[in-house]
Amino acid sequence: MCGIVGVIGKTDATAVLLGGLKRLEYRGYDSAGVYVNDQAGHDHLVKAVGKIAALEAAIGPDVQGVMGIGHTRWATNGKPTEANAHPHVSNDERFYLVHNGVITNAAALRAEYLSDVTFASDTDTEVVVQLVAAFARAGEATKAAFRHALQLLDGSYAFALVDRLDPTALYIAKNKSPLLIGKGAGFNVVASDALAMLDQTDQFVALNDEEIVTLTKTAIQIETLAGDPVTREPFTVHLDAHDTGKGTYEYYMLKEIDEQPAVMRRLVATYTKDGAVQLPAALLKALAGASQLVIVAAGTSYHAGLVGRGLFESLAGIPTSVELASEYGYHQGLLTAKPFFIFLTQSGETADIRQVLVQVKAKGYPSLTITNVGSSTLAREADYALELHAGPEIAVASTKAYTAQVALQALVAKGLGVALGQPAATAFDVVHQLGLAAAGQQALIDQKSRLHELARDLFATTRNAFYIGRGTDYYISLEAALKLKEISYVQAEGFAAGELKHGTIALIEQDTPVVAIITDPATAAHTRSNAEEAAARGAKVLFIAARSEAEPSDQLIIPDIDPRLSPLLTIIPGQLLGYYTSYDRGYDVDKPRNLAKSVTVE
Ligand code: F6R
Repeated sequence: MCGIVGVIGKTDATAVLLGGLKRLEYRGYDSAGVYVNDQAGHDHLVKAVGKIAALEAAIGPDVQGVMGIGHTRWATNGKPTEANAHPHVSNDERFYLVHNGVITNAAALRAEYLSDVTFASDTDTEVVVQLVAAFARAGEATKAAFRHALQLLDGSYAFALVDRLDPTALYIAKNKSPLLIGKGAGFNVVASDALAMLDQTDQFVALNDEEIVTLTKTAIQIETLAGDPVTREPFTVHLDAHDTGKGTYEYYMLKEIDEQPAVMRRLVATYTKDGAVQLPAALLKALAGASQLVIVAAGTSYHAGLVGRGLFESLAGIPTSVELASEYGYHQGLLTAKPFFIFLTQSGETADIRQVLVQVKAKGYPSLTITNVGSSTLAREADYALELHAGPEIAVASTKAYTAQVALQALVAKGLGVALGQPAATAFDVVHQLGLAAAGQQALIDQKSRLHELARDLFATTRNAFYIGRGTDYYISLEAALKLKEISYVQAEGFAAGELKHGTIALIEQDTPVVAIITDPATAAHTRSNAEEAAARGAKVLFIAARSEAEPSDQLIIPDIDPRLSPLLTIIPGQLLGYYTSYDRGYDVDKPRNLAKSVTVE
C-alpha cells in the first residue's frame, strides 16, 4: 500500500526513480509522483493520477536531477487525485515528502500546530510535511525539525524527505512500514522493497522502527529517534532481476501460474536430501517442543494455512489452529503451555500479521515466518524464517506463492512428524507427493484452452458465482472464489457444500454458476448431492473431480494425489478460471482495482 523510492548521487535520478516505481507498482496504482533536484538550483515536481505510465507520460525531457524521491499510491486518506498524490510539499515549497503508512493522529496535530496553514490536499502526509516546515521556520535545523515531527506521530510510516535548500541529503525514517536502504558505489537508494532497486545494487541495509537516516551519495548515517547512532552492515539480496520480467506473457499472472510445477520441484530440491526433509535443527527443536501450533495469516495465505492445519495435525500430531491476523491481533483465544506461532505471508510485510508478531514476541513465544521475501520485515523479526523460493510474484493476485505455502507446510509437517516419531509422517512420502503435484499441475496447466472455454461458458456475464466443497475442497473453494472476485469483480462465494442448504441455497437461480470441487473420498458423495441440489434449482454446475471420484459427465478431471495435497492441483483451474474471466472482460489482470500486493496498513 503505497511504494516509495529515493536516490541520491545518480545523474539519471528520474530514470532510477521511474524504474523503481514501475517495480513497486504492485503496491498501489491510484496515482504517482516524483520530485527531482539537480543540486544546481533546478528542481521538478511531477504528479499524475493513475498508473506509473501516466506519470511517465507527464514527465518532460527537462525533468532531470541527481537526487529525488518518488511514490506510487494506494489511497488511504483522501481520494486518488493529483492533489492527494505524493510527493507532498510544504507551503513554503522547501520540503518534499513521500510516505507509506497511516498517521492516525494527523487531524489532532493539524488542529494543535497548523491551524493557520492552508492545506492543498486531504492527506495525513501533508500534515507531516507542513509540520516539518513549521518547525524549520521556528529555527530548527532540517534533521531536528524532521525528528521533532516524527516524535509527535502516531501510526505507521516510511518517509523520504528532501530539503530543497540542501539537496545534498535525503532524510529517511521508518515505523511499522517497510523500508530498505540500497548501498551503491558513489550513490545510495531507498525503496519499500529490494526488488525495486535491484537493478542498482544488491547490497541493502535494513532499518528498524523508529530510526532516522541521513543519506548522502556516500554515507548512510542511521540513528534512533532518541539520537543514538546505529551501526548496521548491509546484506546481499539474492534475487535475479531477470525473474521480474514478463517474457512473452501478456500478464504476470499467467506466467506465475505456469511457474508452479517448477516451484514445487525447487522446494523439494531446497528442503530435502535423499528423500528426507532438511530443516534447521534449532527450528525443528523449537517446533517439536510445542504443545500447539498457531498459524496466523491473511487472505490467500490464510487459505493456505487452512490446508496447512490438516497437514500439521495429521503428520505431526500437534493441535493446530489457523487465525486471521486482522482478528487475532485483538481477539486471542486461550493458549496451551507452549504455543508456537507460524506466520504465513507471501510478502512478509502484512501489517495485520506484524502486529500479532510484535505481541507474540513480547510474550516470549517462539515464531516462524514462512515467506517469499527473505529480506522482509516479518522474516527478519521472527525467530526463524523459511523461504518459499517461488521467485518474485508480481501479479497482485497470488498464485505460485499460495501453492508454495501449501507445499512448504507439507515439508515442514513431514520433517516435524518424523522428528516426533509419528508413524503417519514416516508413511507420507512428501517427495513423491510433491512430484505428483508438479506433474498434475502441468497436466492441468496444459488444459488452458479448455479452462478458457469453461470460464466463458460459466462466468462470461454473470454477476455472482459459488464454489463449493468439503474439507480441503472447501478451503480451495474459498481460494478459488477469492481469485475470481479479486480480478474479475464477480461476487463469488466459497462455501462449505453442506452449509448451502442451511440458507444460502436461496440465492441459487436459473443459470447461477456453481463450481463443485470433489476430491476427497470421505466427502465426495455428499458434495455431489449438494451440487445436484443446486442444479435442481437451475444452477449451472461445473464438476471438478479427482480421477478416482469422477463420473463420466464431470467436466474437468484432477489427477489423483494424497487428498491432503489436492489443493495443489484443484487451485489450478480456480486460478485459470479467474484469469480468463478477468481477461475476457478486458480488465488489467495483474492490477485489479482497489488492491495492492503488499498490505502495509492495518
Ligand atoms: C490475494 C492475495 C492476498 C494476500 C493477503 C496477505 O490474491 O494475495 O489475499 O494473501 O493480502 O498477504 P501476504 O501473504 O503477503 O501476507
